[in-house]
Amino acid sequence: MAEPGPMRAQQPAAHASAALAASGALAAGAQPPALHLDRVTCTFTSGDGVAYTAMREATLTVAAGEFVSVVGPTGCGKSTLLNMAAGLLRPSSGSVSVFGAALQGVNHRAGYMFQGEALMPWRSALANVTAGLEFAGVARAQAREQGRDWLRRVGLGGFENRYPHQMSGGMRKRAMLAQTLIRDPDIILMDEPFSALDIQTRQLMENEVLDLWMARRKAVLFITHDLDEAIAMSDRVVVLSAGPDTHPIGEFVIDIPRPRDVAEVRMQPRFIELHQGIWAVLRDEVLKGYERQRKA
Ligand SMILES: Nc1ncnc2c1ncn2[C@@H]1O[C@H](COP(=O)(O)OP(=O)(O)O)[C@@H](O)[C@H]1O
Ligand SMILES: [Mg+2]
Repeated sequence: MAEPGPMRAQQPAAHASAALAASGALAAGAQPPALHLDRVTCTFTSGDGVAYTAMREATLTVAAGEFVSVVGPTGCGKSTLLNMAAGLLRPSSGSVSVFGAALQGVNHRAGYMFQGEALMPWRSALANVTAGLEFAGVARAQAREQGRDWLRRVGLGGFENRYPHQMSGGMRKRAMLAQTLIRDPDIILMDEPFSALDIQTRQLMENEVLDLWMARRKAVLFITHDLDEAIAMSDRVVVLSAGPDTHPIGEFVIDIPRPRDVAEVRMQPRFIELHQGIWAVLRDEVLKGYERQRKA
């Protein structure tokens, strides 16, 4: 089996699209990537005028139907990257395109599952799940029917009248998952969705997300700081450098067959081999990130 290693160097997108055009792939009607961040830079300026460049010239592509995870040390810019993909944050330079069209404003092709708690405490599980449909003008009866269906799919059938404070952490994450998927987005953005869960609940949810994904094959950009989770879930894992000036420093194709059970896949020799290869790249960045945070 091939040694795991960075699969391709980050290439300026101008070259990439020229190469695609030359190969006739686009002309032949190949689908443009679901998401393409092209040399995006993101500089934050604090109140006292100090600039911090969280991300510099980062290029990242997610093909339609592809499951891509991004790993990197805490504070390196993972959420920043996702916010740019969601259209919630404009890059200081560079561009974002969605299925080949330049992204302006919010990314309406994407559903976003946030890192923290995002349920509205005054709404029941069902009313939380249907909120997006209601805001989009879907008739109430239809929204409720779809909401019940999605609650069942995420294992919350019968819990539709529970309020967030009446649900466990895992149940709230399930409700958030239904809330994200009910609008059937072509791109799913997830920011460390299960990091707050205990390991058993987490693995259950990871398997459920994989089942749902296998059935629909939407593009997924999945942020995690957990390398095991990234490898178990993904088609490709992208490693970010420690901040500032964060950018991808390695990209690994996860050639482990599907369907996968996230708990069992960790025992496979290929998983361990990939883990070692990726960790060799990630470890130094984690140490750098830790050192910077300690100094700060
Ligand atoms: N709105 C903001 N203003 C200033 N700095 C920010 C802002 N958002 C994020 N940052 C900084 O950018 C860096 C990356 O943050 P973030 O993307 O949240 O990291 P991660 O998700 O990888 O933990 C951090 O140093 C953080 O403090
Ligand atoms: Mg984050």
